[in-house]
Amino acid sequence: MNKNLIEVEGLRKYFNVGGGNVLKAVNDISFSIAEGETLGLVGESGCGKSTAGRTILRLYEPTGGSVKFNGVDISKLPSKKMKAMRRDMQMIFQDPYASLNPRFTVTDIIGEALDIHNMAGSRAERKKRVEELLDMVGLNPDHATRYPHEFSGGQRQRIGIARALAVNPKFIICDEPISALDVSIQAQVVNLLKDLQDRLGLTYLFIAHDLSMVKHISDRVAVMYLGRIVELAESEELYANPMHPYTKTLLSAIPIPDPEIEANKKRILLEDNANGPIQSAKGGSGGGAFDLENSELVEVTKGHWVSMPKK
Ligand SMILES: Nc1ncnc2c1ncn2[C@@H]1O[C@H](COP(=O)(O)OP(=O)(O)OP(=O)(O)O)[C@@H](O)[C@H]1O
Ligand SMILES: [Mg+2]
Repeated sequence: MNKNLIEVEGLRKYFNVGGGNVLKAVNDISFSIAEGETLGLVGESGCGKSTAGRTILRLYEPTGGSVKFNGVDISKLPSKKMKAMRRDMQMIFQDPYASLNPRFTVTDIIGEALDIHNMAGSRAERKKRVEELLDMVGLNPDHATRYPHEFSGGQRQRIGIARALAVNPKFIICDEPISALDVSIQAQVVNLLKDLQDRLGLTYLFIAHDLSMVKHISDRVAVMYLGRIVELAESEELYANPMHPYTKTLLSAIPIPDPEIEANKKRILLEDNANGPIQSAKGGSGGGAFDLENSELVEVTKGHWVSMPKK
């Protein structure tokens, strides 16, 4: 087992949402990611996945808890040191349309990432590096002078991947990188990310809202619900033996190709959550279907953690 590259401990991110209310978007999450590993992070829309990703990279200041990168606690680093650290930690975004500046050429988009960290060198070196990166993600280096709208969705996501790779990061948060793509293209992008991981020794946090998308790329999967992790296990184990009711619900939401099975499949319905993760600043419980407030992660079998009511 490789050493941990990322160690997240008790991480919280609260937002003030007006009227004295606090939204606990990320509410005390802990996990580690070993060097070269992919940890999947899944959960339905709004459960806090992107906020968790952004808080880990300190694009959002954490409300509490810590994040260690290579043993260094980055949650309190001064901004100059944080900027240097950010080179090692990159993000790929869900929407390859919105995340690329339409007025920039591909060279400008990828070159900008190099410029921020003073890695561009001479004009010729910059051009060469951009072409090398395009080749690495399976795009034609001759298309470096084109604009984002000249590419398909899958190709744009490849540009986003090249931009993230430009600064030679060790860790990449892939925030739903395939959700916006045609199903036929999704596997290609996942395979590219896997390939790059093997070649470059990358470590990934791979965010998705359904389990089927992370199955093939993740070594382990963490299931997030209302700002918390309710289950964490090796991928195979999680699919074969889901224990938390919410994980079972997520699994039951994966469409089964056989229409007869699909029709007969029982969907496990979650109880309605009265007010989700929003809690009054003066106290009062948000409750939720599983009384998460009074639960804790317990290691049920080796490496398989499940949220259980506190004894
Ligand atoms: N900057 C912000 N200010 C206030 N609330 C926010 C902010 N960013 C996110 N939230 C809220 O925090 C919660 C978690 O949002 P987040 O975007 O992290 O969810 P997500 O799991 O990534 O969802 P999706 O699958 O739709 O991307 C949501 O209720 C969202 O409205
Ligand atoms: Mg998100």
